[in-house]
This record gives sequence, C-alpha cells and structure tokens, in this order.
Amino acid sequence: MEKVQIKEAKGKLGVLVIGVGGAVATTFIAGTLIVRKGLGIPVGSITQLATIRLGKREENRFPKIKDVVPLADLKDIVFGGWDIFEEDTYTAARNAEVLTVEDLDKVKDELQAIKPMKAVFDQNYVKRLHGTWVKEAPTKWDLKEAVRKDIQEFRAKNNLDRVVCIWCGSTETFLKAGEIHETLPAFQQALKTNHEDIAPSMIYAYACLEEGVSYIAGAPNLTVDTPALWNYAIEQKTPISGKDFKTGQTMLKTVLSPMLKTRMLGLEGWFSTNILGNRDGEVLDDPGSFKTKEESKLSVIDNILQPELYPELYGNIYHKVRINYYPPRKDNKEGWDNIDIFGWLGYPMQLKVDFLCRDSILAAPLCLDLCLFSDLAQRAGMSGIQSWLSFYFKSPIHDREHIAEHDLFIQYTKLKNTLRQIIGEETIDYLD
Ligand SMILES: NC(=O)c1ccc[n+]([C@@H]2O[C@H](COP(=O)([O-])OP(=O)(O)OC[C@H]3O[C@@H](n4cnc5c(N)ncnc54)[C@H](O)[C@@H]3O)[C@@H](O)[C@H]2O)c1
Repeated sequence: MEKVQIKEAKGKLGVLVIGVGGAVATTFIAGTLIVRKGLGIPVGSITQLATIRLGKREENRFPKIKDVVPLADLKDIVFGGWDIFEEDTYTAARNAEVLTVEDLDKVKDELQAIKPMKAVFDQNYVKRLHGTWVKEAPTKWDLKEAVRKDIQEFRAKNNLDRVVCIWCGSTETFLKAGEIHETLPAFQQALKTNHEDIAPSMIYAYACLEEGVSYIAGAPNLTVDTPALWNYAIEQKTPISGKDFKTGQTMLKTVLSPMLKTRMLGLEGWFSTNILGNRDGEVLDDPGSFKTKEESKLSVIDNILQPELYPELYGNIYHKVRINYYPPRKDNKEGWDNIDIFGWLGYPMQLKVDFLCRDSILAAPLCLDLCLFSDLAQRAGMSGIQSWLSFYFKSPIHDREHIAEHDLFIQYTKLKNTLRQIIGEETIDYLD
C-alpha cells in the first residue's frame, strides 16, 4: 500500500471553537488542558487511547493510533473561539457546572486567558438566547469578512501553523437547502443581500473555508451540508465534517438497530424521550431548534434497517423522539428508550434502555478526536466531505452520489481503514 504524503504536524495547531462558552466547549477545552498536564485520563477519545491492528492477525501488532498516525500533539494546541456572551472560559465553565471547581482550578489560568471573540448571532435562528457579545455589520457578507479577520489575527498572534474550527454552538432553527445553497455564486449573492436562509453558522463556515480552515459541524444545523459548500471545500483543499455529535441515545440506536437486523428480529416501534436541564435543553425547547434536532435523530433507524428490503420486519415502524427541558438535571441528561420488537412468528417483546449520562462528558472526547483527525486529513491532502468521520455524527454529511452510513461498527471499520490507508498499511477485510 502506497503511503500518503502527509505534511508534518510541526508548529502550533489553532482550535477555534464556536460557542466557546458552552457546556460542551468548556468541558472539551478544560479536559484537554487537564490531560496534557498529565492530570486526567482522556476517556472516550479514540485518538488518545485506542489501538489499531496492523498487518495479518498472526503478526500481533496492535499499536496505539497516536503512536503510528502522525497526529498533532496536545501540547501544540492553542484554543480560541467565539461566543455571544463575554465571559472568559473559566467563568463560563463554572456556570456550565459540568466539571468540578477542583478540576477547573487545575487549569484556571489557561482557561481565564481564553476570551471569546464577538459572535455572529441573530436571535431569529436561536429563539431562546439573547446575545450580548455580538458583531454588527450591514450585511452577512461583511460579517463573514469580520470572521475572516478574527481568524487571521488569531493565527498571527499565536504564530500558528494550522487552524481547525469546530461548532459547539447552539442548535439553530430548521432550514432546508434551497437554490441559494446550490452553487457558490448563489450563496455569495445571498450573503450580500442578507438572505434569510443564511444562518450565522453558514457565515462562520464560509469564512473558515475561505481561510482554508477545516470546519466541523457539531450541531445538526444545515451549515456546510449544501452543494455550494461541499464543492467549495474541495476547491479550497479543506476538509469538512458533520453533522451533530453522536453521543448518547443515538449512539445506542446505531448499535441496537444493527443487532436487531443481523438477527432478523422485527421492530414495531421505538419511543425515545429525554430530560435535559442545561442551556442546550432550553434552546431545544423551542420548536424550530427542536425540529432541526428531531430530523437528525430520526434518520438513523430507517437507514440502518432498510425497510424497503425487509418490509415484513421493518415496514411499519412507529418512531418518536422527545426532548424535555427539565432544569434540575442540568447537563446530566436521562434518555429512555422503549423498543417494541418481535421474534419468531411475530411474537412481541420489549427492550428498555435508561441511559443516565452526562452530555458534555460524552461529547468532549469527540471534539478532541474530530479536531485532530480533521487536521490530519488536511495535512494528508484530503478535502471536502470526510465520510470516514461519520463515526462521530448522528447525520453524517454525504453528497448526492452517496448514502450515509449509520451503523457504528461499520463506521468504525471505515475510520480505522482510512487511518491504515493514510499511513500506508493494508486495509483489513477480516477474512484473514
Ligand atoms: N452534548 C452532547 O452530547 C451533544 C450531542 C450532539 C450535539 N450537541 C450540540 O452541541 C451544541 C453545544 O451543546 P452545549 O450543551 O454545549 O450547549 P450550550 O448551550 O451550553 O452551548 C452553546 C454555546 O453556543 C453559544 N452560541 C450560540 N449561538 C452562537 C453563535 N452564533 N456564535 C457563537 N456562539 C454561539 C451559546 O452562547 C453557548 O455558550 C448544541 O448545538 C448541541 O445540540 C451536543
């Protein structure tokens, strides 16, 4: 297998976080800083903990991914970002109440030094938030220029070699791709005329692509998932990935659904409900933002179970997803699933799942992996949609020629085979 030419990971890697004062962002940043000081274990991170089998089974080679894949070192990461509130990252992390004060104090100075840049924000796209630290400009095109300037200054001030950007901001209201998202000229014109179907996330994303900064979409917003930006990312030799981190309930769905299908067990209904009390829960209490999330959460079961191929097993599934804002739980979400299945001769059975999880604790390692893998992809000359990173997302971006893959283990195989390919090792088909 020919080794891909990879630009060395030398110098500093800038990580720009949109929504840098949020629960996920602050947990990701504080955790990464704690880990790099050797004061915590990066549980949940593939880049930091997972091994990869190389060669034939009898060779018994299982190195850690980070020992054979040229990823950026955590010590070289410099964080920055934008938020609609002015607090520094330490104060924001205290308010998010995910990590303990004892943990946050281990990296207090570093966190206090990360001060958000003014955001691109419009309440029409996130109804429940009232931003106070927001850029003003006559057009969306001008806002995009202001974001570009922020990126350039961040790069220069920190003497960065490379930059990646990750959206950890709130879920925006539901938007469908239309004519203005079809081609780059139409998209640019829409920015100049303040078209209502250009959401703030698209302004950041376009600015990133113009700057050759890889964009990772952690929320289900439309953002880069349009033909205009898929193609522009290729033109700019810049990787894009998304959408919507796959962390809790949907991760379980993409494990349990393949289990039912491989055993040819039937499914009649799947009812998922959540209680969640953080700011994300409050934002998702608005019907517009919830619709964006609902679309993202609903797509996985049909894709995996292929009802068109198995009408007798999956032709009539009732699938419902609910998210309830319930402040006492804060970030400690509880997700219940009631799954009505059937077996031999159609006899009914039930499966119940109660996942008492911590939303940001699950999301933080995904943020780290996605930043490191996106940087790797860019250094390896990979651009446009990174389908090998589907593993991390509820609604993997795909163009019109491809279908999304949702099965967690197929996604994982693809991720590892892509890494093998990047480092010039044989891909594994498990027949050996
Ligand atoms: N935690 C998970 O498991 C998980 C999984 C999938 C997706 N997500 C998504 O990740 C995002 C972050 O989740 P969270 O729990 O940290 O929410 P949060 O509300 O704590 O954080 C979001 C942050 O984004 C900021 N923000 C909103 N609009 C902005 C804009 N236009 N520019 C800059 N900043 C902006 C908010 O002020 C806030 O600080 C949400 O969209 C959520 O749906 C989270």
